[in-house]
Amino acid sequence: MTMLFNYEMGIGHKTFFEAKNAKIIKDDVLTTEEINNGEIDLIVTSPPYNVDIKYSSHDDQISYEKYLEFSEKWLTRCFHWLKDGGRLCLNIPLDKNKGGQQSVGADLTTIAKNIGFKYHSTIIWNEGNISRRTAWGSWLSASAPYVIAPVELIVVLYKKEWKKLRTDKKSDLQKKEFIDWTNGLWTFQGESKKRIGHPAPFPIELPKRCIKLFSFVGDVVLDPFMGSGTTLVAASLNNRKGLGVEIDEEYCNLAKNRLTKEAHVLNRKLVEHEKEISRQKVLA
Ligand SMILES: C[S@@+](CC[C@H](N)C(=O)[O-])C[C@H]1O[C@@H](n2cnc3c(N)ncnc32)[C@H](O)[C@@H]1O
Repeated sequence: MTMLFNYEMGIGHKTFFEAKNAKIIKDDVLTTEEINNGEIDLIVTSPPYNVDIKYSSHDDQISYEKYLEFSEKWLTRCFHWLKDGGRLCLNIPLDKNKGGQQSVGADLTTIAKNIGFKYHSTIIWNEGNISRRTAWGSWLSASAPYVIAPVELIVVLYKKEWKKLRTDKKSDLQKKEFIDWTNGLWTFQGESKKRIGHPAPFPIELPKRCIKLFSFVGDVVLDPFMGSGTTLVAASLNNRKGLGVEIDEEYCNLAKNRLTKEAHVLNRKLVEHEKEISRQKVLA
């Protein structure tokens, strides 16, 4: 097993892309051996919602029972990967309406708490998206109306201690950001699937806020369901080290391209090439 972000140790065999502050692992979150326990400061992620989204490599329509089993497995792995004091920002739906009503937010929060996570709070993300409105139930009748909130949750959990005592790490929050973002109702639009080229991306504003509010400059931020790499782009733009796990090669490629275009990261080979050029200049 390799150490994260340590070039001297070599690249893990599942490493799809590695740059100075970004690493993509093409692997299954349930089985990957590329992450050591206790090395992650913050996890920001949006897992599959089990709402029949057409991912290239993941079946997004399994029974609710199986979905909860899957959630328990990956949440357990995340718990071990976090440092003591590490945090998890879990972007999940409040509820599920397709194929039977379910309290997804409450159920995943309970599973996480049973694993050992401690609960901090829940941010409501008001994405103003009424496209989830597919049915009224009984129109204009109290017989069986459907109620759907156009919001998602960001459940904030942590391992062992909430308060971070190390004072040598730097926060980079502006006063206005701190005041606005500690109000747990966040309002901004969702991301366009077409623009990003992924069936369920979140907008960069979501991981950006989580990263700046809940981690320090230089911290290691993991997204175990990386998708198009939004969390890694936000981490890199905000001087954190971003690590992503994604099962699908097409999405790994997409994330790599976003990292090079939007965050201007250079891949490791280029970095090494540049180092070699400067070394030769010094010798000349
Ligand atoms: C909701 S999307 C994440 C989107 C991401 N937040 C973004 O902004 O692009 C979930 C992602 O998890 C991936 N995935 C599903 N099962 C996985 C598994 N077992 N291991 C790793 N990735 C998986 C899917 O391919 C999909 O890209």
